[in-house]
Amino acid sequence: MNETKPRRLKINIFRYDPHQKGDTPHIETFEIEEAPGMTLFIVLNDIREHYDASLKFDFVCRAGICGSCGMIINGKPGLACSTLTSKLPEEINLAPLPVFELIGDLSVFTGKWMRGMNERLETWIHNKEDEIRDIHRLEKPMEPELAEEIYELDRCIECGCCIAGCGTIQMNENFVGAVGMNKIARYALDPRDKRDDADYYELVGDENGVFGCMTLLGCEDVCPKKLPLQSKIAYLRRQMVKIGMKK
Ligand code: SF4
Ligand code: SF4
Ligand code: FES
Repeated sequence: MNETKPRRLKINIFRYDPHQKGDTPHIETFEIEEAPGMTLFIVLNDIREHYDASLKFDFVCRAGICGSCGMIINGKPGLACSTLTSKLPEEINLAPLPVFELIGDLSVFTGKWMRGMNERLETWIHNKEDEIRDIHRLEKPMEPELAEEIYELDRCIECGCCIAGCGTIQMNENFVGAVGMNKIARYALDPRDKRDDADYYELVGDENGVFGCMTLLGCEDVCPKKLPLQSKIAYLRRQMVKIGMKK
C-alpha cells in the first residue's frame, strides 16, 4: 500500500506579552506533523500541550459560533477553529488581529471594542413608550420574510475579522466598521424599534460611519459568516444620503 507521508507543518507564531516587562514582539516557530481533519485549533492546542504552555490564544466553541478565535492566518483574518490546515501551505503564519487591544500572543480583547461600539450605536431595540408600559400586550406578528432578513444579519458573531480587514479603521479608530453598520442595518429593518433614519443618521451619518467607508469590501471577503455586508452598507449609505440632503 502506498500511504502518503503526513506533511510537517512549520507554524510561525507572533509572540509578545505586553504585560511582561522587557518582552519584545518576535516570531517563534514550531514544527508539528499534520493529521487528517486538523484545524488550527488542534495545532495551537498541540503546541501548548507539547511545546509551550505559555502560548496565549482564545477559543470557546470550536464551532465558528462564539467569535473568539479570530486571528491573522497567512495575512488574512479568519477563524482558527474553522480553518483546516489542509487548506493552507506547509508554512503557516499566525498573528493577532490588529486594532484590538492585545492581551498576549494571539489573544486580543475584541469584547472591549465590541462593547464600546454597541454602546455608541445603542444596538438594542428602542421600544415605543406604550409597548414598554403594557407588559400584557401580545407581541405583534412579523412577516416570516422580514424575520428571516433580520436573523440573517443577527448571525454576526462579533469575531472582529471585518475590523481587522478594514483599511479605514487603521486610519480612523472611531470608525464603527462593517460590524457596526451591519447592526444599524439590522435595527433599521426591525419594526419594533421606534428609531427612524434621522436617528440612525445621528449615529452613522458621518466619517465614523457610512461616509468613512471606502467600499473596498475587505470586510465581506473575510467575514466567516458570509454576511451580506456589501449590500447592507450600500443600503445604509443610500438612506443616509437621503437624510443628509434634507438637512
Ligand atoms: S460582520 Fe462578519 S466579520 Fe464582522 S464581526 Fe460580524 S461575523 Fe465577524
Ligand atoms: S467596505 Fe467599508 S467597512 Fe468594509 S472593509 Fe472597506 S472601508 Fe471597511
Ligand atoms: S472558537 Fe468559537 S468561533 Fe472559533
